[in-house]
Amino acid sequence: MEKGKLLELLNEMTLEEKVYQLVQLDGGLYSENAAVTGPKVKLGINDEVINNIGSVYNVFGAENLKKIQDDYLSKSRLQIPLLFCADVIYGYKTVLPIPLAFACSWNPELVKEGMEMIAKETSATGIHGVFSPMVDLVRDPRWGRVMESTGEDAYLNSIYAKAEVEGFQGDFNNEHVASCVKHFAAYGAPEAGRDYNTVDMSERKLRQDYLSSYKAAVDAGCKMVMTSFNTVDGIPASGNKWLMREVLREEWGFEGVTVSDYAAIKELIYHGVAEDENHAAKLAIEAGVDFDMKTPIYANHLKGLVERNEINVKLIDEAVLRILNLKNDLGLFENPYRGANEILEKEVIGCKGNKKTARSLSEESIVLLKNDNKVLPLDKNKKIALIGPYANEKALVGLWAISADQKSIIPLKEAMENKIGDNLSYAHGCDIIDDYSLLGDFGYMMQKMSVKRDCEKDLEEALEIAADADTIVVALGEHTLQSGEAGSRTDISVNKQQVELLEKLHELNKPIVCVLFNGRPLILDNVIDKVDGLVEAWFPGSEGALAVADILFGDINPSGKLTMSFPMNVGQIPVYYNEFKTGRPILGSGHTGRFVSKYIDSPNEPRYPFGYGLSYTKFEYGDIQLDKDIFNINNSIKASISIKNVGDIKGKETVQMYIQDIVGSVVRPVKELRGFKKIELEANESTIVEFIITEEDLRFFTKDMNFSSEPGKFKLFIGTNSKDVKAALFEYR
Ligand code: NOJ
Repeated sequence: MEKGKLLELLNEMTLEEKVYQLVQLDGGLYSENAAVTGPKVKLGINDEVINNIGSVYNVFGAENLKKIQDDYLSKSRLQIPLLFCADVIYGYKTVLPIPLAFACSWNPELVKEGMEMIAKETSATGIHGVFSPMVDLVRDPRWGRVMESTGEDAYLNSIYAKAEVEGFQGDFNNEHVASCVKHFAAYGAPEAGRDYNTVDMSERKLRQDYLSSYKAAVDAGCKMVMTSFNTVDGIPASGNKWLMREVLREEWGFEGVTVSDYAAIKELIYHGVAEDENHAAKLAIEAGVDFDMKTPIYANHLKGLVERNEINVKLIDEAVLRILNLKNDLGLFENPYRGANEILEKEVIGCKGNKKTARSLSEESIVLLKNDNKVLPLDKNKKIALIGPYANEKALVGLWAISADQKSIIPLKEAMENKIGDNLSYAHGCDIIDDYSLLGDFGYMMQKMSVKRDCEKDLEEALEIAADADTIVVALGEHTLQSGEAGSRTDISVNKQQVELLEKLHELNKPIVCVLFNGRPLILDNVIDKVDGLVEAWFPGSEGALAVADILFGDINPSGKLTMSFPMNVGQIPVYYNEFKTGRPILGSGHTGRFVSKYIDSPNEPRYPFGYGLSYTKFEYGDIQLDKDIFNINNSIKASISIKNVGDIKGKETVQMYIQDIVGSVVRPVKELRGFKKIELEANESTIVEFIITEEDLRFFTKDMNFSSEPGKFKLFIGTNSKDVKAALFEYR
């Protein structure tokens, strides 16, 4: 439809029709196969609203969605099609590793390919928009939703945000979908890591670290933005005019559709910034929130607010027009089914190519944390005992893969058997947790995991097969519901009964490799000394176990590197690599002994830093060479470093470049990632990796809150992770 016609359409709409267009409800009202993803409440709305709302989410299936669209349009006076959205975050049926895992690939191109794959599956089933990417910066692993994030670094998160949006949206043909970046803003920083809790930080920190990944998604053209549940400077995002209008629309020029998170407009009342539903509706529409997700607050109150002159109808008109524009950009007025196609759906979903993409990303996401005495890779001719609650488990996709076809997932046992047949023995060992009641109800996925078994017998069997094996592989981890939304934990170590199993196995004095399946950095002190090898598999996706087996047996050389630090203990949290400099650093402050910034009972450093990950080969770094050590706005510095694979097999390495601003008008971090390159080298091969440093790399929010650079001296670091680096100095004039 021509843009001019949209205005005509808007003018034809009654006030009720406009208001209902701003409502987005869950698919349970329209279809039995809808997935529930939040608290269930009685909605209290009538059929007139249901027949006229703008959007529905979390219903699937081309045939089903066509039928819903037909029914809806058969009752629609103005023939404005429904917009179908869905929580397809990192996979529809073919599921990628969780974002905290795929980030460890340091391979944005492959991530983009992954999102293109997801868009193909999702659009064929008839969905128009996905509530993804989730780009919240995270530094507190107690928060369950770290699994959905790409980690603790603003620069890297922004690169992934762009790649994901581009993958989902492509050139916006029918095989792509509209992308909704979330959760705007700073949802990843709840106090004490407790989900839905207060977020409170300086504007400088917000802008410097937390906002950049959303901005990167907006700059990449994402069509929708979802509000967050939390406060930003005391005002919840869904009623925060400064955030939603001044920053998002006026500063960043976002012209797309905003959507509240699940019932977040209603929650303005519980936050205590709105007296009642009427007031909540007013705050949200004034803030520029277009869709009210999950509640009837807009439906029941916006009309009255206009009629009583409490708000200007223009606010409603502009919100409706943005939604009509999105529907028009998607081509829904010409083809309300859009990509929905039963034949294509069958062909494309779970096809070989899609599986291959997911598997490649799983391979690059897995992080080798420890490999003493070269226990890995495993020898295919030796006897391996595979033990543990994740050894034969199919729940490998994490919490936000609500449509995954779990039955068809290959568990680790089968993947390893494919390689070594009878040389593999298996025992369950123990359950993932001992108290399932702690997990609460999460609608769609409650019944998907194995249930309690006979623990004593499990242990006996495990010890029996372990006694007969050359090497023990123990597959441990978190229950899916222990991380993800509302999955905050104060104790983030491996569960007690799994540690007890490991202790018993350790007593056998055999080499042990532990594979972890989890959604967050864990505290590993109960595990680390009892194992020779440690592989962080995360929730590795629908093809993940195959990738894990490839890595265990050395068919793939691991290359993943952490994008979130693994704390030594809970007391250190938040611990992240790019912390500010303090006046009393441990080294170099002139102070000694007690009066420096440290703990008296723990190191400051995390167990594993940002950027860390081992390989089966070894890379040797030369010294940094600079083509000049002073530069200005008109030129740049070329930094080069030689890297040699000194091991005896081919391997991939992510070379990381960090900068420290030595003196700034405000305190600056000890280092910040400003570039990286993933290379692959044959055994004995060497190469020169180059980075170009420009003025742009030095920009930050200065004392006057300008995003600019300041002349001065800088430290440059290049290395294999954020801690083990080579250093050089340069100056910007
Ligand atoms: C709440 C979550 O915060 C959000 O990420 C999700 O998209 C919505 N529920 C819809 O299920």
